[in-house]
Amino acid sequence: MEVLSVASEVYPLIKTGGLADVTGALPGVLHAHGVTMRTLVPGYPSVMEKLSGGRVVKQFDDLFGVPAKLIAARIAGLDVIVIDAPALYDRPGNPYVSPDGWDWPDNWKRFAALGWVAAELGMGMVEGYRPQVLHCHDWQAGLAPAYIKFGPASTVKTVMTIHNIAFKGFFSADVFGQLRLPPEAFQVGGIEYYGGVSFLKAGMECADFVTTVSPNYADEIRTPEFGMGLEGLLNGRAETVSGILNGIDVAAWDPATDKALVQNFSANTTNLRRANKQALVEQFGLDGEDGPLFCVVSRLTDQKGMDLLLQVVDGLVDLGGRLIVLGSGEGYLEDGFRHQSSIHPGKVSIVNGYNETLSHLMQGGADAIVIPSRFEPCGLTQLYGLRYGCVPVVSRIGGLADTVVDANPAALAAEVATGVVFEPNSSQALYDALRKATALYNDSRIWKKMQRRGMKSDVSWDTSAARYADLYASITGLKSNDDP
Ligand code: ADP
Ligand code: GLC
Repeated sequence: MEVLSVASEVYPLIKTGGLADVTGALPGVLHAHGVTMRTLVPGYPSVMEKLSGGRVVKQFDDLFGVPAKLIAARIAGLDVIVIDAPALYDRPGNPYVSPDGWDWPDNWKRFAALGWVAAELGMGMVEGYRPQVLHCHDWQAGLAPAYIKFGPASTVKTVMTIHNIAFKGFFSADVFGQLRLPPEAFQVGGIEYYGGVSFLKAGMECADFVTTVSPNYADEIRTPEFGMGLEGLLNGRAETVSGILNGIDVAAWDPATDKALVQNFSANTTNLRRANKQALVEQFGLDGEDGPLFCVVSRLTDQKGMDLLLQVVDGLVDLGGRLIVLGSGEGYLEDGFRHQSSIHPGKVSIVNGYNETLSHLMQGGADAIVIPSRFEPCGLTQLYGLRYGCVPVVSRIGGLADTVVDANPAALAAEVATGVVFEPNSSQALYDALRKATALYNDSRIWKKMQRRGMKSDVSWDTSAARYADLYASITGLKSNDDP
């Protein structure tokens, strides 16, 4: 089975969030299930600089008005097809916004090109390559299923995976005429959305199957509270929608071998984590006191509930805790954490920015990771936390609720608790959760058991990779190891 993954991010070539971790891990884990997965990715500077060798498999004089090449290559263990179109992708900043934080005004064109190339590859544009499935991730890839549905008859099947329904890829109706779609695509059963076009809606409407990244989020987005206007569409096709829980790359995230740690450790040697904690204390300029060290590794946004955390920092410090934050995002939240660190020197500290290595050290040295998200399709940092003995303190929402077992008396007695799960998502409930985590931390026997249990819980891709392979097989009518 040959599957083309269509994605705007893929780790380690380009990453702004969990999407990249997932698209980066899937090809490797699906291989064991007889699936060969290539990834179609735009040629941003960080992708082009890692590209060495490679073969030009197609040239365009006019890809949405610009010249472009498709380059097939193997980079960092991934088989990729890179869209080398400097006029669209050779820009500073991250894949979506300019260095000053504004969306690129031609994002519709940059990602229409991604979807269009994917669809053409699915229809056999490159001789000798014919994927049976296009697996499209998030709005940036959402037009591919529309190009297939409204294009010439073709056998290729499409899967649309929603990593975050909040990002719809919405543009005004005037771009429609330039999308290379027939007029009938501009309709409720196509890509039209409240008078404009939505790339995510296009994918959700036109794909053969829709998945999202946890079973709980799959249920939540069928309700008005979380569906953000797309719940009706999902309910209308409920039998072809499902939630497949993300896993993590357990080789890249292994505390026994991770080179980002000062000290490696395993489930039976959690005491060794102390050296990593000490390194964090020094790096973040904290007091060397004992007490729980809470961490945050996150985009600093409303989605992640960071405003709730800001409201309880005083309380956290009063409980004897310390807080370290790694992240960037909305200015008022960055300023808020900077302010907290100035009024709680030695107790609260923020590193503003993106730092993959430091994120590993924080999981390997902090005692607990705080994730008070308002909505969370899956969430990966709680999975890294479980794997590294960094106990998750999470809101009961989306994939967080699917992956962390709350330390309530029954779960503690049954020896299944792996973290602290709170609801409703309010600052008071978050404070209560931090207090509960602190009490558990102060009982080192219980805490160690929880850490060890988390470290032994299955956060791998094993189960979910099999589910994706089964899904491809069922929509194509092929077995996963059938040749084209
Ligand atoms: P989302 O994709 O919504 O941001 P996830 O929890 O799924 O949330 O994934 C976030 C990913 O990005 C994780 O791999 C996390 O470690 C990483 N990450 C987030 N912020 C930072 C940061 N400032 N520095 C390094 N890694 C980060
Ligand atoms: C999105 C979601 C996050 C999820 C990630 C990978 O960025 O916000 O919850 O873990 O995609 O699927």
